[in-house]
Amino acid sequence: LASLGARAAIMLTNTVTGQPLELSEAPEEGRDTKAVKTFLETGVNIYNENLACLPKAHELFLSMCSGCHGHYAEGKIGPGLNDSYWTYPKNETDQGLFETIFGGAQGQMGPMYGALNMNEMLLVMAWVRHLYKDDPKGAVWLTDEQRSQFKPFDASAKHIEPAEELPEACGG
Ligand code: HEM
Ligand code: CA
Repeated sequence: LASLGARAAIMLTNTVTGQPLELSEAPEEGRDTKAVKTFLETGVNIYNENLACLPKAHELFLSMCSGCHGHYAEGKIGPGLNDSYWTYPKNETDQGLFETIFGGAQGQMGPMYGALNMNEMLLVMAWVRHLYKDDPKGAVWLTDEQRSQFKPFDASAKHIEPAEELPEACGG
């Protein structure tokens, strides 16, 4: 557990209280993936627009998030996550989004560390980012190269089907 904290070069804090996140509360499983290590060192989510990982990411979003945020994250009892407006502006960074998912926000938005491991949180984040429907210029979580290729999500177009399978390159 100590090594987990020591490894985090970024300082992760609760979205509402500002208190440090207790990463040791996360499940053991999914801590040692390349994506989690990279994220804890840099705040970068290497699953963004990783086509091999998005089917599982989609499946996780449908089982854990869409009931409150809508199928396409368009908003339901929780706010839309597919546009450039954020109640908590830090959610436009992947560090901020991770902090909100891990530690929760207010009301029904509870902490997710009991339901998802950290690798799964990064996968869900990548699907939320894939659902973004506004101007790619606002997609500050993408690299310049990814942003130049990014097409705003179109629910009527053919899109990536959810799948249970977690390829090895996605932490499986
Ligand atoms: C807020 C993500 C699951 C209800 C938020 C926010 C994010 C988020 C990023 C902040 C949005 C902003 O700043 O505009 C997620 C993800 C989920 C998830 C990725 C699945 C892993 C749920 C579930 C519920 C829920 C299951 C209902 C039981 C809410 C509500 C808010 C919220 C009511 C508003 C909270 C506030 O403004 O403080 N969610 N959520 N979410 N979510 Fe979720
Ligand atoms: Ca929004």
